Amino acid sequence: MQPKLIIHGGAGSSLKTKEASQAVRYSLYKVIEDIYSLLLNGASAGEAVVRGCQLLEDDPRFNAGTGSVLQSDGQIRMSAALMDGTQQRFSGVINISRVKNPIYLAKTLQDSADRVLSDYGAAELARELHTPTYNPLTEVRLKEWLQERQENFDRTMADVVAEQEFVKPSESGRGTIGVVALDSQGHLAAGTSTGGKGFERIGRVSDSAMPAGNYANRKAGVSCTGIGEHIIDECLAAKIVVRVTDGLSLREAMARSFTEARENDRDFAAIALDYTGAIAYGKTSKTLLAAYHTGEQIGDTLEMVEDVQTIF
Ligand code: GLY
Repeated sequence: MQPKLIIHGGAGSSLKTKEASQAVRYSLYKVIEDIYSLLLNGASAGEAVVRGCQLLEDDPRFNAGTGSVLQSDGQIRMSAALMDGTQQRFSGVINISRVKNPIYLAKTLQDSADRVLSDYGAAELARELHTPTYNPLTEVRLKEWLQERQENFDRTMADVVAEQEFVKPSESGRGTIGVVALDSQGHLAAGTSTGGKGFERIGRVSDSAMPAGNYANRKAGVSCTGIGEHIIDECLAAKIVVRVTDGLSLREAMARSFTEARENDRDFAAIALDYTGAIAYGKTSKTLLAAYHTGEQIGDTLEMVEDVQTIF
């Protein structure tokens, strides 16, 4: 079967400059090309998703791994999840600090009896695995936090991507990264990783390591980005997947879910694939930073104006 791939680097307000858009497009296309060739060489959907998430976590532009946003107390706490569609198995870590790639911890937990670990337990796992201590802080994110602290954290979220020159934005953004893959065996997997909203209370739990934000089975896979509380309230990823499982086409499942999201005034986006190879993406946010590979061509959503689009 022809592999399919879709990835995202967050959703939110529009990027401030054309250069920022070009830089994001370049980053996303590089990951799409690398991961799609892995899929062509026989990698499983799960392997492709983990490697894709790792590349996006390593890019300081995106709010996951290196370049994660800071929470209200100035600390970075990251969350990540992996869902294998064939086994319908979810694993994840919540609010982990001082590791480079939270997605690897989520992957390790796929074969564990205890599959979702939070802060202290996740740190213990990292220690048991001899994961090197790593500081994901970047200068741009530190400046962003310092500015916000002066203004008593009046924004709801940090910028969707870390643009090189920090300028106080007029609107907030939402960052997360995600990958959904369909491999040559027809297997689906989804992965999502985030530094959270930015400036949040200690202990706040992101949607990214919940089935609301990251879900897959044999029929469909979805990764979400945007305001976690909105994603949780809609149970977005699981809802789209269940709708496809119950017989809706991916196009119908996305359209219905995003119509409800608009009615409920939500601010988020999602990327999705189904077992037939259909690719879909939807947003209520102004911008979704996503790119996909159809097998024939690469495309992106940076200039998308519609709420939902599906490619067959
Ligand atoms: N969607 C990322 C978060 O709200 O934490």
